[in-house]
Amino acid sequence: MVAQRLALGIDVGGSGIKGAPVDLDAGEFSTERRRIATPKKSTPQNVAEVIAELVDHFADQLDPKTPVGITMPAIVHHGVTMSAANIDDAWIGFEAEKLLEETLGRDVYLVNDADAAGVAESRYGAAKGAEGLVIMTTLGTGIGSAMIHNGVLIPNSELGHLEIDGHDAESRAASRVKEEEGLSYKKWAKRLQRYYEVVEFLFSPDLFVVGGGVSRDADEFLPLLKLRTPIVPAKLRNTAGIVGAAHLAADLQERGLSHVTPELDSNA
Ligand code: BGC
Repeated sequence: MVAQRLALGIDVGGSGIKGAPVDLDAGEFSTERRRIATPKKSTPQNVAEVIAELVDHFADQLDPKTPVGITMPAIVHHGVTMSAANIDDAWIGFEAEKLLEETLGRDVYLVNDADAAGVAESRYGAAKGAEGLVIMTTLGTGIGSAMIHNGVLIPNSELGHLEIDGHDAESRAASRVKEEEGLSYKKWAKRLQRYYEVVEFLFSPDLFVVGGGVSRDADEFLPLLKLRTPIVPAKLRNTAGIVGAAHLAADLQERGLSHVTPELDSNA
């Protein structure tokens, strides 16, 4: 029997920190995921303690060399977190990957949450085998984005923060705003239309993938959008962050790279 290729994926969010070992051939959790609430004061040290607890929980299934991929709701540039969405501001400009490698004693790869989800969709989900430019957007508390060109991630695109009609785009079109303002799908779709047509004009993508919890109801709003570009719901749903982070971690470790950077992908 061939041993399962495994990496551990961890998803750090504003309310929960979730982890699971990922079977990299199937793109699925090999064991049920575990969730621990994000500490009230979500400083790097407090979050690192929770991550260590998750790694311990799965330790009997991991080899000492098994890498850990961790998503952050932040820009992650060469292992340094450069912003902080729904987590403590102490992450801004912080050498997060270094702290986590020291805490866990393992190879750690930090990646923006939407980038991880995009990688998972491109490798195992709605954009599997897609050629050209795929833009994944996650509609949630904010808008996250991932740009993947012929299977290669271009990290930290932050297209949720495009300024459109004088607004930070996510402040108009994120699904949180739909909830807070009590918008119908029809009204919200008008805002999404404006958002995606600007992104389409700027980048001429070949495919849009829409993720985030609300993508479960994609039938309610995707058919209302009129775009040149095909737009499809994500397939991996809430496993995407963990699966994408684990895949990236294993891929980068195999190639001897230390951070998520726009290097050529081994599959390209
Ligand atoms: C942040 C991104 C993040 C997205 C989804 C945005 O507000 O700027 O870094 O990917 O929210 O969490």
